[in-house]
Amino acid sequence: MSDLASTTAPAASLDELEQAHADLVAAGLDLDLTRGKPGADQLDLSTDLDGIIGDDWMLDGVDTRNYGSLDGLPSIKAIGGRLLGMPATNVLAGGNSSLELMGRYLVHAHVFGVGGPDTAWNRGQPKMLCPVPGYDRHFSLTEHLGIEMVPVELTEDGPDMDRVEELVGNDHDVVGMWCVPKYANPTGITYATEVVRRLARLGQVASDHFRIMWDNAYAVHDLTDQPDYLESIFTEAEVNGTQDSVVQFASTSKITLAGSGVAFLGTSLGNLAAFRDHLQYFTIGPDKVNHLRHVRKLGGSRAIGDHMAAQAELIRPKFAIVQEVLADGLGDDGRHGHWSTPSGGYFVSFWSRPGLAGEIVDLAARAGVKLTPAGAAFPYGDDPDDSHIRLAPTYPAQDDVRRAMEVFVTCVKLATARADTTS
Ligand SMILES: Cc1ncc(COP(=O)(O)O)c(C=O)c1O
Repeated sequence: MSDLASTTAPAASLDELEQAHADLVAAGLDLDLTRGKPGADQLDLSTDLDGIIGDDWMLDGVDTRNYGSLDGLPSIKAIGGRLLGMPATNVLAGGNSSLELMGRYLVHAHVFGVGGPDTAWNRGQPKMLCPVPGYDRHFSLTEHLGIEMVPVELTEDGPDMDRVEELVGNDHDVVGMWCVPKYANPTGITYATEVVRRLARLGQVASDHFRIMWDNAYAVHDLTDQPDYLESIFTEAEVNGTQDSVVQFASTSKITLAGSGVAFLGTSLGNLAAFRDHLQYFTIGPDKVNHLRHVRKLGGSRAIGDHMAAQAELIRPKFAIVQEVLADGLGDDGRHGHWSTPSGGYFVSFWSRPGLAGEIVDLAARAGVKLTPAGAAFPYGDDPDDSHIRLAPTYPAQDDVRRAMEVFVTCVKLATARADTTS
């Protein structure tokens, strides 16, 4: 939440706001705050990946140009282990997309069964718990596979654990749960240590095939010098003997190149062996040449930290602009809504007054600012309060972020003023 001293928005009449919006529509802007994509300046930090190999194609004694090494070679697995906080031996290094690995893992669990055909989720009426607001692509993937989604409130500390424990303990059709534990997409919160501990204990009461999909996409994406702390779920699961219940994911998509990074899956050795058995039917091995590039670039002990500090320098001003324009334009008295102030990650969440999110997104679209559709951060696109809007400021240039946010503020004020006159 915004921690500024309480202020009110500059006053404007409904007529003035309608006119301001009409002027914006006439201006024919074309701005986009929809997706969490790195800006070109961020990508420029990794252009040295091209050419980094020279003529030495060997990694860990293996010619990377050839087939093989289904789960990657030790040096790239070690980088995944650092991102996921677990030993390299528990990690699989895959292709360029962690979302694809998540999809493959779900197909493995849902269609084939993590412990053989009898354990396939699709033998029953599987349900996945979905902390909301959450990552829209988790939800569309789950829906695509025909798995029922059960929303659970995401609080400032993580998922509502009383509700999660009740659901997992009482209903063995609950086969899984999505988690984005650090700088969550889209609210930016990080799970509190006690929440991580309670999640790690779920495996003691859940069905044997229950899997927490621990998507740590923003593990090293700190924006401040006081980064959020995330307790290690791997360690907690070891303490509780529940290692099989947690499958972790990460990638370098938002470290190096969004379309040409390396994705990782980390889990218990038993789970990993079962997943490898599944994966071998789809590929002879990952892109080890790209693995080699990433080992050369990120393999040093300080390399990831230094690189992410340079990323933060580029992103931080854009997040500051979002906070500044919202605070200046809307005040902090909650009349027009409230918003998150994350210490890292890629997103800011805005909550309008209930019932206005769809209208605000439509108003912004007409004024030339594309926003993620209202409701996108909820299973089946259904935000019961019609209140949440995700803002993604990394991709546009700073001036465009400011312009887009000013338009957004006008749209929030207009929708709120219209609601005031009709209530
Ligand atoms: C939470 C989360 N997980 C995964 C992804 C996609 O990751 P990848 O590029 O590794 O598929 C994103 C991208 O925005 C994300 O926000």
